[in-house]
Amino acid sequence: MNTPDAYLLPVYRTIGESLIRELAKLMSIPGMISLAGGYPGPELFDREGLRASADEALSASPTACLQYGPTDGLPALREAITGWMAEAGTRCEVDDILVTAGSQQGFDLLVRTLLRPGDAALVERPTYTGPLRLLKIAGVTTQTVGVDHQGLDVDELESLLRDAASGRLPRPKLLYVVPTFANPSGATMPLSRRLRLLELAVQYGVVVVEDDPYGRLRFEGEPQPHLTSLVDRVPGARDWVVHLGSFSKVIAPGLRTGWLIAAPAVRRACLIAKQLDDLSNPGFTQMTVARYLAAGRLRAHLPVILQAYRERAQAMREAIQTHLTGRIEVGVPEGGMFMWGRILSGASARDLLKQAIEEKVTFVAGDIYYADQVDPTTLRLSFSTPSPAQIHQGIARIGLALNSMSIR
Ligand SMILES: Cc1ncc(COP(=O)(O)O)c(C=O)c1O
Repeated sequence: MNTPDAYLLPVYRTIGESLIRELAKLMSIPGMISLAGGYPGPELFDREGLRASADEALSASPTACLQYGPTDGLPALREAITGWMAEAGTRCEVDDILVTAGSQQGFDLLVRTLLRPGDAALVERPTYTGPLRLLKIAGVTTQTVGVDHQGLDVDELESLLRDAASGRLPRPKLLYVVPTFANPSGATMPLSRRLRLLELAVQYGVVVVEDDPYGRLRFEGEPQPHLTSLVDRVPGARDWVVHLGSFSKVIAPGLRTGWLIAAPAVRRACLIAKQLDDLSNPGFTQMTVARYLAAGRLRAHLPVILQAYRERAQAMREAIQTHLTGRIEVGVPEGGMFMWGRILSGASARDLLKQAIEEKVTFVAGDIYYADQVDPTTLRLSFSTPSPAQIHQGIARIGLALNSMSIR
């Protein structure tokens, strides 16, 4: 008997569930500590500010909140986003902005409008799982460029693009990169690499997608400019850079509010794709976020979030020094939510994770972040949700898990 299952595209039968969602289910076990999810600390959500903003939005603009609205987003929110970008040193116009249901939707729109099955795209090695899965489902071939503590290795990128130009590799149309506090590596690209990346994009005709959900979560060091703010310094770069912004990590992911900035033709194609997808973001959410920003509530609340993440990152650094020195080495980020580590004995992080779950702590095994050249000894530790005390305890438990691995 035929069933609808028989019609499913094969890729949907074979693609796995997200490891992170699987790990999230373990949180129902009493006493489990999660160093796994890239979720904001829930006690850091500004409930009062958001409630006030929602009330004000509904009272002042009921029609905008409740009626169908423009696909590219309500003008009040787009205006507020230009202000938010300007605070980070990036000038953009209201008309440059397409409001999206988060950065994830922004990337989906780009894949749908720019890439065909069989095309090639570049990602970092390691990179965020969302784009890896999207590219796979779209039938796009992924090529990878290594990452060090300064983010994308632009020398490796250049040599890959040279090979592609000479026909030794498929020519990539697009590069997906998280230049600031990357997921999972935590790394941030310095200015020199950013400029070089733009030069290579122009020279080889590659669309650079700058995904920036974490950039404003800087608790130490000096800010780096968005790639999209550097386009005037590299002739021809303006057309090749797409910026994906998000309020998920700084306000709340449940609001599903992000934005895309791209050259007019690409932005227009994404607008059409979004129209067919969800018509527009919800008006009520858009007006609430617009009000939240316009009232200066995000600017006022962000330091609270940064202070908490600063303390949590510090706690993780100290705990790693106490319990894991000589056994796991980690990069220390100046912001974001993640530390990226490597087990020095060469043991697999999957095996360590199994043992760690026994000890009631979770983290993410690094293998899921690789399109190729998987390093099975890598792992991602997130410090955004647990308290400093839980972080100390969680890292100590990873130490115990390592002990019992070496005993077995
Ligand atoms: C690098 C990166 N991009 C995008 C997202 C998803 O962001 P959004 O909630 O804006 O869709 C995440 C979430 O973890 C992420 O780490």
